[in-house]
Amino acid sequence: MSYKGISDFRSDTVTRPTEEMRKAMYNAEVGDDVLGDDPTVKKLEEISSEKLGKEAGLFVPSGTMGNTIALKIAAGEGKEVILEERCHILNYESGNISRIAKSLPRALPSDRGEIPLNLIEKNIHTSLRDHIPETKVISLEDTHNNWGGSILSLDYLKNVKSIADKHHLHMHLDGARIFNASVAQKIDVKEISKYFDSIMFCLSKGLSAPIGSILTGSKEFIKEARFIRKFLGGGMRQIGIVAAPGIVSVEKMIDRLEEDHIRAKKLAEKIADIKEIDMDFDEVKTNFIILKLKTMDSLTFLKKLESKKVLALPLSNELVRVVTHKDIDDSDINIAAKAIREIFR
Ligand SMILES: Cc1ncc(COP(=O)(O)O)c(C=O)c1O
Repeated sequence: MSYKGISDFRSDTVTRPTEEMRKAMYNAEVGDDVLGDDPTVKKLEEISSEKLGKEAGLFVPSGTMGNTIALKIAAGEGKEVILEERCHILNYESGNISRIAKSLPRALPSDRGEIPLNLIEKNIHTSLRDHIPETKVISLEDTHNNWGGSILSLDYLKNVKSIADKHHLHMHLDGARIFNASVAQKIDVKEISKYFDSIMFCLSKGLSAPIGSILTGSKEFIKEARFIRKFLGGGMRQIGIVAAPGIVSVEKMIDRLEEDHIRAKKLAEKIADIKEIDMDFDEVKTNFIILKLKTMDSLTFLKKLESKKVLALPLSNELVRVVTHKDIDDSDINIAAKAIREIFR
């Protein structure tokens, strides 16, 4: 539903907390989490790690912090992380992989987020030679933001995992939108998470909580993660107040992601015949639509769109990203389709 008359398709991060979340915040039982006293945070960490089939979980203020902590533990200073060249960790996390984890990114090209297996193999350096940094981690992203919400196939994950096992590498998942991936494939999320040693997922995107992400992994891994969170200034006190809406996210907001996927398809369908836009309908797998503009630059297009009270984000001079989420309903889809049509009339 539009908010203050604006249909906001910029990101699923713009979702506002539900009424139930606000009530949960008000009523949350709290304690000092640094001292291990906050029962609401503990519950959120427990239900989250259980859902992903991992031993333990840690509430962190952001996805960026979750990914950074994971790589600092699993790779660390002077070690290499194999990741995909368009991934969020490399491109949009302030260089933390180098600045905080102090690791070296080995960025590789991909087909919609899937790095060719032979390319992964070719880029693993495990035999210690004094001038070659050692590979420690393979890090993937699912769904993949910069590839328009693409999904990594289960077969692919299985194959990458067997390469990682062969070379004793840690598998990390930037699963900011892992539940979009599981819901779209109609599978239990554990079918994805079982291939990874650590997973970060976001509460504050399609799951609509106002803040926070969860890092999951083994008990030992999360114990170390808790230490590093404090080192980064992320030791928080009565945070049950912000963990409470996260519980609503995990318990009640996952299944409804399907609505966002259906609406993304619906919007894509409604604008598929516009000649001035290149869009691959079959690539709309989750809640993202990528528009390639043939006759107008993205900033001009977005300005015109904004004048019709519809917002989206530019990805480049010619690419625009449109994202569906809880606060976009059928009427927003109709408003956006009409606005886009009018721009090219
Ligand atoms: C794929 C992906 N990973 C990680 C993040 C980082 O999350 P945060 O903004 O909470 O740091 C985002 C945020 O948009 C994302 O899209």
